[in-house]
Amino acid sequence: MTAPRVLVTRHLPDGGLDPLIEAGYDVTLPIPGEALSHSDVVALIPGHAGLVCDLTDLTDAEVIEAGLPTLQVIATVSVGFDKIDRVTAAAHGVAVTNTPGVLDETTADLAFLLILTAARRSSGAEADLRAGRWTGWAIDDHLGVDVHGATLGLVGFGRIGREVARRAEGFGMTVLHTSRTPTGIEGHVASLDELLERSQIVSLHIPLTPETRGLIGAEQIARMPAGSVLVNTARGPIVDEDALVDALESGHLFAAGLDVFDGEPKLNPRLLTAPNITLLPHIGSATYATRTSMAKMSSASVVTVLQGATPDNLVQPPR
Ligand code: NAP
Ligand code: GLV
Repeated sequence: MTAPRVLVTRHLPDGGLDPLIEAGYDVTLPIPGEALSHSDVVALIPGHAGLVCDLTDLTDAEVIEAGLPTLQVIATVSVGFDKIDRVTAAAHGVAVTNTPGVLDETTADLAFLLILTAARRSSGAEADLRAGRWTGWAIDDHLGVDVHGATLGLVGFGRIGREVARRAEGFGMTVLHTSRTPTGIEGHVASLDELLERSQIVSLHIPLTPETRGLIGAEQIARMPAGSVLVNTARGPIVDEDALVDALESGHLFAAGLDVFDGEPKLNPRLLTAPNITLLPHIGSATYATRTSMAKMSSASVVTVLQGATPDNLVQPPR
């Protein structure tokens, strides 16, 4: 019997492919230093039983149908699966897996970094220092807003949102959260509007879905108290970036911190010149340990599916 073939769209951290190699699978990789494009994947996928991709790969009907009838599993090295056409995958019995759990703490750390750096305007302060604009300590220089004691509103209270909440406790913050399903946990507020109105710092922890695309627009930002802070480590298209820049320019929002962008890696040029904004290149889960765990988890879930079992990290088709 020939070994199952698995297509991997880019090189993974050391050890990331171990579960596939240990299972004796035949792994197809791009040439060193390169990644497969959408058209490469469409051309290469015929005959493969598994696809290991990531959140930058558009895994649409064209990719999935090109992989039929052999394709059985798509494993994304990310917890977000918004680039995968789950409807087409389900229609053809192709399993989809992601990497929940292993990146929660690392991503929550990064969200907290953005909360702190946005509220304390540390990116701008460091830029001033590096550019020689710092002339010495001054009582009214580089003033920020306090994180400790502030009310933090978490939009989405799943794995990562809960880890951010745990960190916020250490800062003596009041933590509110919202989600479609009442959590029964103290701090749950029934509506997004109420959460926005009551929070001084808002951090987003929801998936990108048709329902959440554009969820935070001009109307929602206007509900946030004057002088508040918005942080997005979820997905760029959840926030209307022009409305965000308008609110920073008008001074309604004090500051913002973004790790994710609509249309990334291209950036809305207005973000680059907006005041009091920290921009990071989608590094929420970017630690050596976490990225290795994510890669191993994806490879292991391919093996689980191809061995006929159901992995814990199976992504369900849309409701
Ligand atoms: P999760 O455990 O599935 O939690 C998602 C939360 O969002 C749940 O509380 C869910 O509750 C809520 N939710 C879903 N739709 C909602 C809506 N329309 N309105 C309000 N709440 C809604 O997901 P997670 O593991 O925490 O990850 C969250 C997202 O973070 C991922 O999907 C990914 O996009 C992003 N992420 C980014 C990075 C990064 O590098 N920046 C790293 C990891 C993850 P209900 O279903 O009850 O509404
Ligand atoms: C990162 O954005 C992820 O979804 O894992």
